[in-house]
Amino acid sequence: MEQTINITDGHPLKGTVKISGAKNEVTKLMVASTLFDKPLEILNVPNIGDVEITAELMKNLGSAVHFHPDKHSLTIDSHGIHGHQAVFTQNNGNRLSILLAGPLLYRFGKAVVQKPGGCRIGERPLDLHLFYLRSLGVTIAEDDCLIHLSGSLRGATIEFPYKSVGATEGALLAALHAKGETIIKNAANEPEVIELIKILQRGGALIEMDAQNNLHLTGIEKPLVLRHPVTVMGDRVEAVSYAAAAVATGGQVELDGINQYSIITALTTLRKIGAKLDFDQQNILVSGSDDLHPLNIETDPHPALATDFQQVLTVLLSQAKGESMIHETVFDNRFAYLESLNQLGGKFSVSTKCSPFATCRFSDLHNHTAHIVGPMQFTGGTARITDLRAAFALVMAGLISPNETTLTDIHHLLRGYEDPIGKLHKLGANIKLASNP
Ligand code: EPU
Repeated sequence: MEQTINITDGHPLKGTVKISGAKNEVTKLMVASTLFDKPLEILNVPNIGDVEITAELMKNLGSAVHFHPDKHSLTIDSHGIHGHQAVFTQNNGNRLSILLAGPLLYRFGKAVVQKPGGCRIGERPLDLHLFYLRSLGVTIAEDDCLIHLSGSLRGATIEFPYKSVGATEGALLAALHAKGETIIKNAANEPEVIELIKILQRGGALIEMDAQNNLHLTGIEKPLVLRHPVTVMGDRVEAVSYAAAAVATGGQVELDGINQYSIITALTTLRKIGAKLDFDQQNILVSGSDDLHPLNIETDPHPALATDFQQVLTVLLSQAKGESMIHETVFDNRFAYLESLNQLGGKFSVSTKCSPFATCRFSDLHNHTAHIVGPMQFTGGTARITDLRAAFALVMAGLISPNETTLTDIHHLLRGYEDPIGKLHKLGANIKLASNP
């Protein structure tokens, strides 16, 4: 029986939303548990599909995983892993398998990793991962699905041609126990990467950062040791999603559990579009207004505007009067969801041209600039969710439509957002899960 999400009667969202732990931190901590000699106790763990997928990957290696969704805690003991094969049992998996290459090489001198799955938002090649592994002295052979690695890790200077979150994290995990010094240049510094560095440092890793944001590691011989639980930061994508939905519906939502630092650029973007922001010691109150302004924006690596925020901003800008443009420079195919929005009455278009203000590596090659002429009226209907971050944008289109909206392929949404139906319902949305034969 296929489940769908049904949304009726647009209401302004009102109330407080508890932001869950960050998907893109917790799953990396689960992988990093392979470098610790004691069970890793993780708090503020979101109850989402991606935690289950990563748990499956880790169990296949021999990790003992105890997840208590009601308590939002997870204990993972990877001390006794016996396998060196990081493979998924669930069909598409996620991006995490490749990050196990370094830890497995450290533990066993060899590794086999399944090529990662995850959202189809571009080609998502692995060249940067293979680049840092080869730089660290690893021998690599590939077939269609698997990567076979062997060798002992030795320090090197790795200069990435592009700031990649996954490749920076993979290089960190691999270089931690490499013999000698490693320098990672042009490293990504997304908040989740910094959180990973913090936890590795607490465990005994020797990591420094210089004025150019390069990472310097001195290889250590012993496993990491951590005697206290670690707490996952609030999910910045979830926070910006609810903030954008609050503004688009003309509502008022208090974000509870998000670090302002992680969303500075996004908050200012929302304010430029017309959001009102109010900050207290803990929470951020986001309110809509009748006067939304169009804007030209561009996604880039942190601390610039994240690619994971563009989908909800696309729907928000569709409610502003005038022309907006969104230039996506991180992933080459992250606008496939516009077709689904157009099935709900949207009138979005996308082109291969860069924005007139900046050119990027996708110029004339990929559809990567969205054109928005607002205000648009969504008319409801049925549409397919194409990927995780598009999922919330489609929900937003449903929330501001006067008619009924039905969304299919909801597993994408549940992979990265904890209890979105419950949270939106609590904020006053008429949203429910429906089972269709
Ligand atoms: N890239 C390469 N070669 C590589 C690796 C990356 O060309 O070997 C390219 C990618 O194709 C992309 C760019 O580099 O064009 C940036 O990709 P990055 O490696 O930074 O992304 P990622 O590690 O695969 C993580 C998040 C994404 C988030 C991006 C960018 C996880 C599990 N995923 O992906 O989150 O959009 O960083 O911030 O951490 C999501 O949560 O829905 C999501 C897609």
